Amino acid sequence: MIVDSPAEDIHFYYLSASGGCMRERTLKKLEEMNQAAEEGGGKGKIEEQHKKGKLTARERVAQLLDPGTFQELDKFVTHRATEFGMEKNRPLGDGVVTGYGMINGRLVYLFSHDFTVLGGSLGEAFGKKVVKVMDLAMKNGAPIIGLNDSGGARIQEGASSLAGYSEIFFRNTLASGVVPQISAALGPSAGGAVYSPALTDFIVMVKGTGSMFVTGPEVVKAALGQDISFEELGGAEVHARKSGVAHFITSNEQECFSLLRDLLSYLPQNNSELPPTLKTKDPPERVEKSLREIIPDDANKAYDVREIVKKVVDDARLLEVHANWAENVFVGFARMDGESVGVVANQPLFLSGALDSTASVKAARFVRFCDAFNIPIVTIVDVPGYMPGADEEHSGVIRHGSKLLFAYCEATVPKVTVITRKAYGGAYCAMGSKFSRADINYAWPEAEIAVMGPEGAVNVIFRKEIEGAADKEATRKALLKDYRETITNPYFAASRGIIDDVIDPAVTRPKLISALTSLRKKKEFRPHKKHGNIQL
Ligand code: HXC
Repeated sequence: MIVDSPAEDIHFYYLSASGGCMRERTLKKLEEMNQAAEEGGGKGKIEEQHKKGKLTARERVAQLLDPGTFQELDKFVTHRATEFGMEKNRPLGDGVVTGYGMINGRLVYLFSHDFTVLGGSLGEAFGKKVVKVMDLAMKNGAPIIGLNDSGGARIQEGASSLAGYSEIFFRNTLASGVVPQISAALGPSAGGAVYSPALTDFIVMVKGTGSMFVTGPEVVKAALGQDISFEELGGAEVHARKSGVAHFITSNEQECFSLLRDLLSYLPQNNSELPPTLKTKDPPERVEKSLREIIPDDANKAYDVREIVKKVVDDARLLEVHANWAENVFVGFARMDGESVGVVANQPLFLSGALDSTASVKAARFVRFCDAFNIPIVTIVDVPGYMPGADEEHSGVIRHGSKLLFAYCEATVPKVTVITRKAYGGAYCAMGSKFSRADINYAWPEAEIAVMGPEGAVNVIFRKEIEGAADKEATRKALLKDYRETITNPYFAASRGIIDDVIDPAVTRPKLISALTSLRKKKEFRPHKKHGNIQL
């Protein structure tokens, strides 16, 4: 049915399904605008993007979010630059797709760099779009996710680009500890495009396509005369194994998106909420007799601490963080009776589980994340100490090691600790001990808790006796036995309340779950201050 129009210049009307009338021409214009915006840099550039093994910005958003939930904002924003002929090229959206949607039915805000438009480079308008979704995420208490694929600051926009980045850095800093911030490096992340991810909580990099560098290979060549590829300079493997910049690496983008979805499932929406609970069929009272045999008889033999963690947590499911960096300490998320926990554990497979500078930094950052976001911390201790030697002293093990002490002491979330074998010296003090204010501390019967390992201790305090003995070896052995029986066994610590209970390893899961349940409403306060001064 045609309806009369009050407007003078309108020729075509039709009735919509609901009976309202719409102006056909304006709808067509909207369709064209949407199509133009969605084409980004055009078909040719999209083909190039696919040839490089990368998805487009919109394909990524569609794969990451729950189907049909994406609501785009600022699709028609354009830049205002006029320098270097930029006025002739004003692509709709300006090279970044922004908006909000759902992941596992929970709200997230996100931005996705469109490399097909000016190489995903960031100018003034682009920066304002990102800042808008960051502000919305903060106001609405929801995580912010950045899908990065960018040549960095848009060179043609000069200082405006730097201002755009700096506004993002400022918001990253404000949002830190308020809403989870997660970054994926899916293509190059160059220059300014590395610092915003670096200010976020977690970075996932895709092998082969994701790279992060402050200055690219060409600048390295010009400045230092070195030939180096993108992969060697800042590829996923380099950042996952050497620099520790990447918390996770995946083989492709699909894997990256499923990892992001999994990661978010352990996290609350913001710092005033608790993480979601996931029902499990794994009984909380499960007794795991195999834990009695898991520590090798030889105290110096290695084993994989992941095996202990898997036997204790729900359904043997772990999300390990920084799996390839500072491997002498394990950190990761798991659930116990459905509740998220952060697990920190010494890993005897590497450096006998000793804490060195990088392991201290890795664990400290994880503890601080858990504390900021109300995730209880379960600590599993088998630590022979801080790593000795000139290399470590000179690389600042004192400075870095103190970060872990600081992080544990500062954390007020529920903290439950189990000592499985060695707990020596300052490293034990740091690793969720009573002194760093863990709430409940357990030890397995073979735990050794002392200032230092028996061999070193006996050599220090009985040097004269050993040197003066007729049979030095027999004397040393007798002194070692005596030292172990007198002081390193867990009952000495338990007699002083430093350990709350010595437990059968088989009941570790029920004991931990019971402790965590008792601590669910824990409240603990620290003195009011502007901020602490962690040894950065
Ligand atoms: C403007 C850029 C750009 C940039 C890339 N492009 N980076 N335009 N500003 N920063 C454009 C290219 O000119 C090209 O345009 C298109 O994006 C695709 O780039 P290609 O080089 O063809 O792609 P590829 O071979 O895949 O290489 C991608 C790249 C490379 C590795 C990112 O473009 C590169 O090295 N760019 C410069 C990276 C960099 O040094 N950035 C640092 C900026 S300084 P056409 O028209 O040909 O399609 C910085 C400091 C900020 O960010 C500090 C903040 C406080």
